[in-house]
This record gives sequence, C-alpha cells and structure tokens, in this order.
Amino acid sequence: MTTEMTSNQKDQSPLLEGRGVSKYFGGLAALHNVDFAIYPGEIMGLIGPNGSGKTTLFDCLSRVQQINTGEIHFKGQEISKKKPFQVAHMGLARTFQVFRVYRKLTVLENMLLSRQWRNESIFRQLRPSHPDTDQRARELLEFLTLDHLTYEQAGNLSGGQQRLLEIGMALMPDPELILLDEAASGVNPVLINTIKDRILHLSNEQGKTFLLIEHNMEFIGDLCSRVFVLNFGEKLAEGTPEDVMTNEDVIEAYFGS
Ligand SMILES: Nc1ncnc2c1ncn2[C@@H]1O[C@H](COP(=O)(O)OP(=O)(O)OP(=O)(O)O)[C@@H](O)[C@H]1O
Ligand SMILES: [Mg+2]
Repeated sequence: MTTEMTSNQKDQSPLLEGRGVSKYFGGLAALHNVDFAIYPGEIMGLIGPNGSGKTTLFDCLSRVQQINTGEIHFKGQEISKKKPFQVAHMGLARTFQVFRVYRKLTVLENMLLSRQWRNESIFRQLRPSHPDTDQRARELLEFLTLDHLTYEQAGNLSGGQQRLLEIGMALMPDPELILLDEAASGVNPVLINTIKDRILHLSNEQGKTFLLIEHNMEFIGDLCSRVFVLNFGEKLAEGTPEDVMTNEDVIEAYFGS
C-alpha cells in the first residue's frame, strides 16, 4: 500500500517520527518494530482492533511508558528518554481514553490544573491563576462551546462535554501536536460534529497537527488525510482513509475472514 503525501509534505521533515519502536509487557509485544511519520499540519488517524497497541503508542509518545527498542523524534529531537513534562513542554499534548477530569472541580478549575507541563506541584497549580492563564482558559472554553459550563462541576458534564473539556485541557499550553485517544467515544452526534469542527479549525487556521485514535470510521474518514493501522502491535497498513478501509488485510483484522 502506498502512502499518500502531498507535495508539501515531501519537502518537510516529519514533526514526529518513530523508527523501529517496540514496547513489551513481559512476553507480550504491545508494539513491535513500528515505523511512523507525521508531518506538520496534518491530521493523521491511528486505527486498529482492540488491544492492537494504539494507546500504548500514545503512552510511549507522551513518555508515560518507556520503549524497549527504537527511536522517537519530535521536532528533530530524540525524545525516548525524556520525561512526560519535558515532551509536554516541547509541544506534545494528549488526551486519555478514560476520562481524566477532576469530577468535583469546576470546568474552569480543570482547565487551570491542566498546566502540568510546567512540572509544578498540584498545590502550586491551585494557587490563584495568572490573569493570562485565566484568560486563555476562558477563551478556549468559548472556542469549545463550553463557556456556559465554566462554573459547573466537571462530573456533571455529558460524555461529549467531558471529551471537549479534555481537549481544552490539552490545548492550554498551546501544543503543536495533539494526540486524541478516542475523542468521539461516548459522544452524541451533535457534539461529535462540534469536536470535528474544532479539530478542523485548529488544523486549518492554526496549523496544529493531530494524531487521532478512533474506532468511529466516519470520524476518521471526515478528518484524516492519512491513516495508520496497527494490528497485534505491528503496522498493518498506511494510506488514505479509502485505501485502508478497503484494504483486505484491514477488513480481516477487524472482522475476521
Ligand atoms: N500497562 C500494561 N501492562 C500490561 N499490558 C498492557 C499494559 N498496557 C497495555 N497492555 C496490553 O498491551 C496490548 C495493547 O493494549 P492497548 O491498550 O495499547 O490497545 P489499544 O489498541 O489501545 O486497544 P483499545 O482499542 O481496546 O483501546 C493489550 O494486549 C493490553 O492488554
Ligand atoms: Mg486504547
């Protein structure tokens, strides 16, 4: 399968590149010898059946997990020995498959607490915010259509609103690359459209780069220029959404023969 690249991408270095990345949990190869490249400004999809290693790849990229072999380069720097806050500070942000909002705190407080990239302790983060930080949080909440919920406890938000809040928290430090783990999961169709629209806006208007894990193929097809498929920790295919969704190996991996 060929990899679709625009002429623009061919001239650019990847923003993020992995070479021979492996991650083992005991005898299980969650990732085995995986190569990938993501170019500035693109929205790339990461798909694969349950347990194929998608979240593990995010964990390795965001430095929550150590890789066993290979290299990961972000903005030309090898990051596979860096700490999570260091890659966050370099401009790499992520959300989590399972919600990670503080349910008892307000939406605004959650946004202000997302400044983990500064490696500040939680007690320092809870101090009264700098006016600029407060302003940024409020602007992002408006951008994500959550401003009417600014003082609501995060636990009272719908699934889709919590996903949007997590995206907002990821955007607080103004990252260049945003990894979204199942941003459309548990979200009603109206808010799925809001999430899509905001991702496209961030990509088109601000040049942000995205890597999206998603089981919702319509979401992937509508947003992604390229898709990367994992199966049992190995790269199975890569190409345009149409290419991979009609690829027989991919169909077999999802549905069996
Ligand atoms: N911390 C861990 N310790 C041991 N095994 C793990 C750990 N994290 C993931 N695994 C295993 O690694 C494999 C890949 O898991 P991963 O969560 O990356 O899959 P996934 O593609 O994100 O799946 P899903 O679509 O269900 O979210 C699975 O077999 C999983 O059980
Ligand atoms: Mg996962």
